[in-house]
Amino acid sequence: MSHPLEQLRDDALREIESARDEQTLEAARVKYLGRSGSVSAWGEQMKTLGKDEKPIVGKLLNEVRNAVAAAIEERAQKFRAQKESAALSNIDISLPGTPDERGSLHPLTQMLDRSIDIFRRMGFVLADGPDIEDEWHCFDALNTPPEHPARNEQDTFYLPDGRLLRTHTSTVQIRAMQTAPPPMRVIAPGAAYRRDEIDATHNAQFHQIEGLYVDENVSVADLKGTLEFFMRELFGAETQVQFRPHYFPFTEPSLEVYVKSKALKKGEQWIEVAGSGIVHPAVFEAVNKARGDKAYDPEKWTGYAFGLGMDRLAMILFDIPDIRLFAQNDLRFLRQFA
Ligand code: PHE
Repeated sequence: MSHPLEQLRDDALREIESARDEQTLEAARVKYLGRSGSVSAWGEQMKTLGKDEKPIVGKLLNEVRNAVAAAIEERAQKFRAQKESAALSNIDISLPGTPDERGSLHPLTQMLDRSIDIFRRMGFVLADGPDIEDEWHCFDALNTPPEHPARNEQDTFYLPDGRLLRTHTSTVQIRAMQTAPPPMRVIAPGAAYRRDEIDATHNAQFHQIEGLYVDENVSVADLKGTLEFFMRELFGAETQVQFRPHYFPFTEPSLEVYVKSKALKKGEQWIEVAGSGIVHPAVFEAVNKARGDKAYDPEKWTGYAFGLGMDRLAMILFDIPDIRLFAQNDLRFLRQFA
């Protein structure tokens, strides 16, 4: 004859097995294992048993409790799994997903990065200066007198307090020399501003890389070698570079730099890409005066400087027809350079 506890266990297991949902299962759990459930009631009853019976029934009670608890857990797990797969079956896996928006670098940034890379390999380090400048850094220190047309209100953006948006990155030449003595080999990439008539090749904001090299016996040959190497790294080995005499107040002699390369879409044309020259002694003197020393003694030190137009270079490298596209934030344009 089986013990009533075994009977109880069999009833419980049957009930659990036939539970059709979580509520019925929970009801069964309360009925058997709950505080006043029938298995728990047997625990109370233990106290009334004799010495001999106690260990036997105790062991059986334990087994029954474990068996019932395990059956309930197993059944609950089945319900959870069913619920999960029901939820999953509602997902339409044929729907297209939400794509991650992939950013990419602006073509001008790409151009700057490539250029900076090349100059870095030649030992140039980065220098920096503010876009909002004073007249002294933008003009006076660069040997550009008050009557010079570049200082005209029609050519430059002035702030009410007399400061201005720098019209070239040459301002950073001055700032770099103010902070450190020669020898000096820096590049300064950044934006510059002019009050130009805006069209396909002119915008109020454009970008330059300024270069400055000051050492003993720096010559035009050094300048030519550096810029030729740069252009060939950028546009390919058969790129031709031409230097034409020009005038800048802050260099003497001054040279405009032109390139021609089959790699470029305008392959057969000479394209002006930079201004350059040998640093004018008056620039060194202005820096010395501001520093209060003779660190840039023009008798001892010479240097070259250049200002490369980045927008122009990017336009010819990527075959971009209109400079205004750089600032319009049109994704149809920008995505082409991703
Ligand atoms: N700052 C000049 C410009 O913007 C370029 C330049 C830089 C020329 C350095 C000579 C030396 O046109």
